[in-house]
Amino acid sequence: MRIILLGAPGVGKGTQAAFLSKKAGLPQISTGDIFRHNLKNETPLGKLAKGYMDKGLLVPDEVTINIVQDRLMREDCKYGFILDGFPRTLSQSESLDKVLNEMGSALDCAINFDVADRVIMNRLAGRRVCPNCGKTFHIVYEPPREQGVCDACRTPLTQREDDREETVIKRLHSYHEQTEPLIEHYQRRNLLVNVDAAKPIDAVSAEIEMIIDKIRLSNKEKHLIHKPFDLTAG
Ligand code: AP5
Repeated sequence: MRIILLGAPGVGKGTQAAFLSKKAGLPQISTGDIFRHNLKNETPLGKLAKGYMDKGLLVPDEVTINIVQDRLMREDCKYGFILDGFPRTLSQSESLDKVLNEMGSALDCAINFDVADRVIMNRLAGRRVCPNCGKTFHIVYEPPREQGVCDACRTPLTQREDDREETVIKRLHSYHEQTEPLIEHYQRRNLLVNVDAAKPIDAVSAEIEMIIDKIRLSNKEKHLIHKPFDLTAG
């Protein structure tokens, strides 16, 4: 199954991608995580990405597209993937189609997370992340068992640099200008599924689970329709 998660910063893409990855046994590919990993390791890519991320801007397409193309060619993506935060521009979307075409596959759906901007401000202000294992929390909606400490690895939690209010405003601006047009793009291609992501985390997960089950069923039916009868079978 090949799924993309669309939506503004802070709508819950990462939270649900982690859930879905476990549930469907598919790799979660987050371009934001790839950039942060490079930033942490002070690679040239990390240094380049930081210049854009700190300003709430998108990293240039030619850089991002190459990274995703390489990642999708890996063995673990053979049976599908969850793209979290890619594509974010029409040009990224076109390049994704091209890669999938070369791989002889296609997207199953684009899940669009719908949440008002004022809710997003609140979510990002309360987000805390583990600088060691990357797990995400929220001080109110998904608090760690012990305040300020990661449940998984006991590392003190921190706030993301780009979660400062002034950067979030710029990120939202970039989203509305460059990424939002993708909603219509995928709607026209009959691939868009909208999710009311203003609901609590568990309710959003349940909605996504239903979407995935439906796709699985429809893929199975397509497979049966296209499968020729085996006349030699006993
Ligand atoms: P990236 O890391 O992808 O950031 P983003 O898209 O801005 O998304 P976020 O990670 O901020 O939010 P999310 O939707 O994953 O929400 P989360 O689940 O954490 O990208 C960072 C930067 O990298 C970009 O700004 C750009 O510079 C660059 N970049 C990345 N991809 C790029 C690309 N393709 N092209 C160019 N540049 C790119 O949830 C947020 C908080 O809310 C958490 O605290 C969570 O616990 C809580 N929460 C989640 N769901 C709910 C819920 N239903 N109810 C209540 N709380 C909830």
